[in-house]
Amino acid sequence: MARDKALIIANWKMNLGVHDASLYIHKLSKSIKIHRNVEVVIAPTLLTLQTLSLQVNLKQIKLAAQNFYWRDHGAYTGEVSAAQLSGIVQYAMVGHSERRNVFNESDKDLRAKVQAAIRNGIRPILCVGETAGEKSNNETQDVLHDQLIGGLANITGEELEKVVIAYEPVWAIGASRTPTTDEITAAIRSVRSQIKHLYGTKASQNIQVLYGASVTPDNAGSFLELPDVDGLLIGGASLDEHAFTSIIEIAHETKKFNDK
Ligand code: PGA
Repeated sequence: MARDKALIIANWKMNLGVHDASLYIHKLSKSIKIHRNVEVVIAPTLLTLQTLSLQVNLKQIKLAAQNFYWRDHGAYTGEVSAAQLSGIVQYAMVGHSERRNVFNESDKDLRAKVQAAIRNGIRPILCVGETAGEKSNNETQDVLHDQLIGGLANITGEELEKVVIAYEPVWAIGASRTPTTDEITAAIRSVRSQIKHLYGTKASQNIQVLYGASVTPDNAGSFLELPDVDGLLIGGASLDEHAFTSIIEIAHETKKFNDK
């Protein structure tokens, strides 16, 4: 997808069961218009994906998995694969900081997941970002560099066209504080410059890069206006259907998504 559309993704994490998820989607589909310049994606818990996939109009709302296992089939008790998710989701998150930090997922796991998603026709959203300690040691650029090299190690230039990157500073997730717009721009430029180094100028200009961490209807506009930000990954605020609807409308009104 080109960068002329805002990509607005709700990460519900381990919230909303089958009933509440379905009710939310029912309300959301009534409250949002289909905008040519906004792609709306919901990442609910795995449990609810099947039901929601039968409920959504894909022109209006697409679905994402929050996680999956990288092998396609086999004796992996408790896991769900990208192959099994294919046809149900259009996107899948890879390497959210909670996966990296709580479940100890390594770059080796994550690069296999990026590949598995692409192999199964699903767009991976590779999440990258520094912790508070790394930020205070001025290591943000190095961390982004390592996470990108690690996550994209097996990906060809052609496959990269399917990949979305989400910059999510770990210290700002669920924290009611965000980086300054200058810090976000610097981090995302560093992502693009790493992509340029790995895949060339065109790839670095074309790749969609999102910002995520403590996004609300009050600050969403200031992030979306930044030339390097192509959309948002929203946790807490996305659980409130009114707040999420407002953010979608803000994206729709953002000048740069109307100019192109
Ligand atoms: P937050 O979460 O919006 O609640 O900070 C973002 C995320 O973890 O993706």
